Amino acid sequence: MPGFEVIGNLEKKYLNEIFTKSGGVLFRHGFEKLRKNIFRVKKFEKGFGKHFNSKYSHSTTSGTAALRIALASLGIGKGDEVITQCFTFVATVEAIIESGATPVCTEIDKSLNMCPKDLIKKINSKTKAIIVVHMLGVAADLEKIKKICNKKNIFIIEDTAWGIGAKIRKNYLGTIGDVGTFSFDHAKTLTTGEGGMIVYKRKKMYNKGLAWHDHGHENNPKFPRYEDTRKSSGFNFRMSELQAAVGLAQLKKFNKIFKTHQKNKKKISNVLKKIDYLEFREKPKNSTDASEALVIIFKNSKLAKFYSKKLKMNGINTKILPEALTWHFAKYWSHMRELKKRQKLTFNTSHNILKRCVSLPIMYKMEKQIPIKIYKILSSKMK
Ligand SMILES: Cc1ncc(COP(=O)(O)O)c(C=O)c1O
Repeated sequence: MPGFEVIGNLEKKYLNEIFTKSGGVLFRHGFEKLRKNIFRVKKFEKGFGKHFNSKYSHSTTSGTAALRIALASLGIGKGDEVITQCFTFVATVEAIIESGATPVCTEIDKSLNMCPKDLIKKINSKTKAIIVVHMLGVAADLEKIKKICNKKNIFIIEDTAWGIGAKIRKNYLGTIGDVGTFSFDHAKTLTTGEGGMIVYKRKKMYNKGLAWHDHGHENNPKFPRYEDTRKSSGFNFRMSELQAAVGLAQLKKFNKIFKTHQKNKKKISNVLKKIDYLEFREKPKNSTDASEALVIIFKNSKLAKFYSKKLKMNGINTKILPEALTWHFAKYWSHMRELKKRQKLTFNTSHNILKRCVSLPIMYKMEKQIPIKIYKILSSKMK
């Protein structure tokens, strides 16, 4: 969770410069003279695209908005079905509901991501897209999933809220499917407080998404903004210069954050590997993970409950599993009528895995004694 851990002088400097250099202009468009032609949102988008190897990217107000825009860019709406996985954050399903499409959830497997076998079972003639989630920073099995979707002509959206910087082979997560979405909320690796980014494989979808997030504005250079051209209605999900200033500072720190994450996760997993009754989450071959969290799978839920309580008692927090499971597991989302109407919210296979999991957050500023402290707690006998 390092984004907020490293907020400091550079973020302050970039924020101040909005006022000292750019006349306090907070809007992504216009006011060229007053802002001395400095466009921070656009600079952040360009920098992000360059860093994560995407030709077409634009920012937005949140990761949830990014998902909604992604669906709009693909023309998804009423009468369509969009498949995602049952272990994600409510936002993924909410975005599908907001688009007017019907959400469908698959089971997860031991990677804690979308189960490709169950995906095949859930596809029907109405399925237009899937949203595959790289949950808690580990890549979904996109190579298998891509083959399935390509055969059926189904779009792939990658919800990369947790997977920024991680790769499958040489490709950054988010850039493998048709559209990728990112979140910069306060708990994410790169944070702007609230915010998000969308990356597109094709220019046509980028143009559609960019316009849709800005009331349909095409930003036609032939006209002033008040006479701008449009082809469809849209919404307002524009990022502000304040968020972008923080984003630019965070982007500069990203490589260091990412490497530190990986180093710290390794330190914990190296000691925990010595405990033979612990199992770890599977990840696809040739993938790196964002090292946001280390998920341990216990033999049964009683052990998971016992050790998560013990960790907490000793000052070690957990992350989502088990404490925030009801916000991240569709089994508990009977408040979403659209989801409940289409399928039974049982997800027995996934529940059998998730109830045995404990997730440890990986911090940027990790105290030296943490790995051994965790080892001692998890290797002690259950009483
Ligand atoms: C998997 C997933 N998707 C989407 C989001 C939504 O991101 P935001 O909080 O920026 O709206 C989150 C937030 O935690 C998430 O975990």
